[in-house]
Amino acid sequence: MSGNVILEVRDMIVSFSARRAGRKYRVQAVDGVSLSLAEGEVLGIVGESGCGKTTLGRALVGLVQPDSGNFNLKGTEMIGARGSGLREMRLSVRMVFQDPNASLNPRRAIGDSVAEAADISGFFKNRAERSAAIAATLTAVGLNPSFAARYPYELSGGQRQRVGIARAILPTPCIIVADEPVSALDVSVQAQVLNLMMDLRDQLRLSMLFISHDLGVIGQISSRVAVMYMGRIVEQAGTRTVLDHPLHPYTRALVAAIPKPDPSKRIQGAIEMGEPPSLFTRPHGCAYAPRCPMASDRCLVDVPQLRFVGADGRTIACHNV
Ligand SMILES: Nc1ncnc2c1ncn2[C@@H]1O[C@H](COP(=O)(O)OP(=O)(O)OP(=O)(O)O)[C@@H](O)[C@H]1O
Ligand SMILES: [Mg+2]
Repeated sequence: MSGNVILEVRDMIVSFSARRAGRKYRVQAVDGVSLSLAEGEVLGIVGESGCGKTTLGRALVGLVQPDSGNFNLKGTEMIGARGSGLREMRLSVRMVFQDPNASLNPRRAIGDSVAEAADISGFFKNRAERSAAIAATLTAVGLNPSFAARYPYELSGGQRQRVGIARAILPTPCIIVADEPVSALDVSVQAQVLNLMMDLRDQLRLSMLFISHDLGVIGQISSRVAVMYMGRIVEQAGTRTVLDHPLHPYTRALVAAIPKPDPSKRIQGAIEMGEPPSLFTRPHGCAYAPRCPMASDRCLVDVPQLRFVGADGRTIACHNV
């Protein structure tokens, strides 16, 4: 990893109480995640539905409270932060949500939505400065400044997500948590919005946690990838390393599932993914063991811990690699 580390998460656990068949359970959506992010770096978080990606992202922007762990932002510990510390975290780490329709207030003019975080923090000295910042931010996301006076219902899905991105970059954030920012959009506009995010990444030197279930999309924007399975990171390495030489059997299955036009590039012996697991029936040993073609007796009883394997700072949690 290059550059200064600005975000460091250690052993983060986030659990929810849930009910099933009349019984109360506590399910761990994020089960001891550690990661770090350097200035200007994009870390992709990939994994199938329910593995805890959104919950991890929400914990990092202060929308859910972790049960335990450490979360260090630019040298300041954030878990349990209140008052000015919490405000600083909310301004510094900003989320782009999956569904731009649900995340925009329909009764609010676009300009007011874009300026919301800055307004709450008393960022602007006067109205002229505020209007100029809104216009510049709309321009930066490829929208005409006149959109400031419009309402969400007047915009297309792609335009709304551009507004969602504008909301996250005013005032300039240090970290963006982008939660499946293109998956709710028409295929035809997905590439445009992804290109916009890559341009902003380069222009603003944004650090990003880019969450997606699609390793193909992650591969385009991220320099490193963390693969999550049932609330845990099971493999983490540089994007090319993960895509070209996936080692964890779950990562191999994900990479094999990326559509490839050239049959010779397809991974042989692709693994059937089957049904995603349920947090209510977490296995004792490795959570992936019930689906894993390499599982041995040890995998059924012993939870594998992340360890360094090979070059590129790759970490992997598997007994058999
Ligand atoms: N507020 C909540 N209350 C109870 N359970 C929750 C809550 N939020 C998430 N969960 C549970 O936590 C687990 C992880 O959910 P999360 O939304 O983080 O997954 P995800 O990886 O983002 O999935 P997807 O790809 O479908 O968006 C799921 O089992 C989910 O049902
Ligand atoms: Mg999600």
